[in-house]
Amino acid sequence: MFETGLLRGKRVLVTGGGTGLGLSMGKRFLELGASLAICGRREEVLKQATAGLEQSAPGRVAWHRCDIRDAAAVDAMLDALWAEGPLDALVNNAAGNFIAKTEELSPRAIDAVLGIVLHGSAYVTVGCGRRWLAEQHRASVISIVTTYAWTGSAYVVPSAMAKAGVLAMTRSLAVEWGGRGVRLNAIAPGPFPTQGAWERLVPRPDMAKRFETNNPLGRPGRHEELANLAAFLLSDGAGYINGEVVTIDGGEWLQGAGQFNFLRELTDADWDEVRKKKGK
Ligand code: HXC
Ligand code: NAP
Repeated sequence: MFETGLLRGKRVLVTGGGTGLGLSMGKRFLELGASLAICGRREEVLKQATAGLEQSAPGRVAWHRCDIRDAAAVDAMLDALWAEGPLDALVNNAAGNFIAKTEELSPRAIDAVLGIVLHGSAYVTVGCGRRWLAEQHRASVISIVTTYAWTGSAYVVPSAMAKAGVLAMTRSLAVEWGGRGVRLNAIAPGPFPTQGAWERLVPRPDMAKRFETNNPLGRPGRHEELANLAAFLLSDGAGYINGEVVTIDGGEWLQGAGQFNFLRELTDADWDEVRKKKGK
């Protein structure tokens, strides 16, 4: 899909890059010539991911144990990364989420999600941005949000609030920093099966299939489809895209929006009948 070396020379930090979609994006960036840094809270997961990445793709991988809810820890990680030169790109991918009846959420449960997604993404983005602006270094940020950042969603309310905030950050900073060489965009994925998300978001095994296929394409996303979109947005060829959110969900959220979309359940025979009744 892309020319060899599309991301050559770029140093990319993927938060939460040790698992799931972050790991898949990191692998693709390496294949396209980037060097990679990943962070997360679990050292063993990061070590294993790094070993796997180094085996399957070219390019250097660095891992940092860092809880992005801790602003001081984020700053220390960025100092360590910058000691070897500036990053060129950041992917805000780390997240926390679970389904629950909202009226039953404790304050700690609300804070657990907001702390990772809203505060954590802000600490990492502002930390990188401050350094890039001071050095007049061109760079790009992608934040992984979700379509319920603008539709809202029942049963994942702290996540919806936090993702909406991250989208607002993206659009705000695209204007504030765009003229100084820092582009910010977001990706809104539909269902892309990962262990981390599925074990927290699928209430019963029999509901997994419905979650995965409830969209016009009738299938879940493939990790490489999301990774390719992220690589495109990070590449210099996408240099005029700034402040945008790109949806990659097979049409899932629009399907829920259009008033007559439920007519998809009509068969060709049903449609013939409708025409006949209208004398057409
Ligand atoms: C109700 C819950 C809960 C649940 C935790 N809590 N899970 N409440 N239902 N299922 C409550 C706890 O009881 C506690 O409150 C508080 O939340 C903090 O819990 P901890 O386990 O101490 O928190 P922590 O160790 O910080 O873990 C954070 C986490 C966890 C978010 C709760 O799930 C996590 O580490 N997640 C990281 C990975 C992840 O979530 N990946 C999925 C991303 S998928 P009390 O009051 O009892 O102390 C995603 C997809 C979006 O974002 C779009 C899909 C289409
Ligand atoms: P995942 O595998 O659970 O990824 C979440 C990652 O974030 C983990 O590696 C986790 O590592 C890290 N993380 C969590 N809290 C952290 C913290 N405080 N500090 C640092 N790292 C932290 O889930 P995923 O499905 O790949 O999700 C990746 C991104 O895609 C998320 O932003 C999610 O909202 C988004 N998304 C996913 C889907 C989907 O269908 N999968 C759909 C829409 C959006 P540690 O636990 O080791 O810290």
